[in-house]
Amino acid sequence: MKHLVVVAHPAEASFTFALTRAYTDELELLGHTTQTYDLYRMGFNPVLAAHELEPISADNPVSPDVARAQEDIRAADVLTVIYPLWWLSMPAIMKGYVDRVFARGFAYESQQGIVHGLLSGKKSVLITLSGAPLPLLVKSGNWNAVQILQDTHILRSAGFELLDHVHFDVVVPQLAPGIAEQYLAEVRACVRTHFRET
Ligand SMILES: Cc1cc2nc3c(=O)[nH]c(=O)nc-3n(C[C@H](O)[C@H](O)[C@H](O)COP(=O)(O)O)c2cc1C
Repeated sequence: MKHLVVVAHPAEASFTFALTRAYTDELELLGHTTQTYDLYRMGFNPVLAAHELEPISADNPVSPDVARAQEDIRAADVLTVIYPLWWLSMPAIMKGYVDRVFARGFAYESQQGIVHGLLSGKKSVLITLSGAPLPLLVKSGNWNAVQILQDTHILRSAGFELLDHVHFDVVVPQLAPGIAEQYLAEVRACVRTHFRET
């Protein structure tokens, strides 16, 4: 299978990147093809321009970076999105990727405000990290918000089948002993669970 992995974190030395490398490494060990979009290193422009809201025409073609990004999603069987929760949401560069690339006519159509996804047949995996413990996020209702917005509203409304949302909590500068190894093993296990058959 072809996997497109989109990751948003400014620091390559971050735990987000350690998880990303373990995830893609395990996929490749199983014989899958991976392409990684490292939005920060690519300098992805997250700002949606006014002309991108207008109908596509010969005079108003899709912006080249968006066209390339859409082509890479079209070519992929699985889209995996990896990011830390920042203010319970995705880093702004990831939000800009969604705003611009998951455009009307590509990721969804809408009639009378009712959205239907155009990317059905593709699978997705969401991997998030937080500083806060997951039980605390659940107790406060915040986890519900994360799931409604990021799993259901974005990925599922674009038509993806969401195979898994794997969350790693209490990712803090001084990780508790053994936690890094445990989390890296968990992200590899996620790959084996869903993609053992190529
Ligand atoms: C701008 C910013 C906002 C954050 N907001 C939250 C938050 O709302 N909830 C939370 O649990 N952690 C929050 N955090 C903590 C990050 O989720 C945590 O540091 C990150 O998952 C650790 O992964 P890393 O080592 O790859 O950066 C925030 C961190 C930053 C930098």
